[in-house]
Amino acid sequence: MKIIIARDYEEMSERAAKIIIDLIKRKPEAVLGLATGATPIRLYQLLVQAYQRGELSFEKVTTFNLDDYVGLNKNSRDSFYSYMHENLFSQVDIRPENINLLDGSASNLTDECLNYERLIKEAGGIDLQLLGIGLDGHIGFAEPGSSFDGRTFVVNLTKSTIETNAKGFIELKQSPTQGITMGPGTIMEAGQILMLANGLHKAPIIHKAFYGPVTEDVPASVLQRHPDCLVILDAAAAGE
Ligand code: PGA
Repeated sequence: MKIIIARDYEEMSERAAKIIIDLIKRKPEAVLGLATGATPIRLYQLLVQAYQRGELSFEKVTTFNLDDYVGLNKNSRDSFYSYMHENLFSQVDIRPENINLLDGSASNLTDECLNYERLIKEAGGIDLQLLGIGLDGHIGFAEPGSSFDGRTFVVNLTKSTIETNAKGFIELKQSPTQGITMGPGTIMEAGQILMLANGLHKAPIIHKAFYGPVTEDVPASVLQRHPDCLVILDAAAAGE
């Protein structure tokens, strides 16, 4: 794996945007795996700006988001569906039928998981998977203890994730306790991984995940085994 230490959040986001823009220019029908959270907000703004300048088109791009909350209607302002539409999809020319998100309010979640895996396969697999990292080392919502072979599944969120995410809610009073997420096995099949992390609070888990042993106790550590994984940190997240 390769680690780049950017000066700050802006440079981290610019470097990430350039990689995704170059990929879409090279392969207009690229399949992107996307992430939510605070980390990629600026990256999505930069992609929207590049689209507005006429630098690239999302017309042929297909996307698969990593995860969402179980039991949450997609129209809730706190769903990852809403986040993605607000921050990216509503501002670019992506076709609605090329957008894929897990539906945490589906009546049969097992079918939802299996169907998602099928859709990824039918799309030819994910070219580039964007990732953030949780304070507990999760990728997507694949929490510590998740099998490295695990495919899309329903997961009980850790106390750390529940507490951290609750701080960002707009509407929700209580944090959902379960997520639906691609598994580490799904994520590891992406052709390329692009992980971003910024801020002092991420420094300990970055050190543990990428300089410590590869263990299911730290899901992100599996990325050490990926043949094409790029991690872009700001100086604070690289602190340890
Ligand atoms: P964050 O979340 O970008 O809000 O830090 C990352 C994650 O939990 O995967």
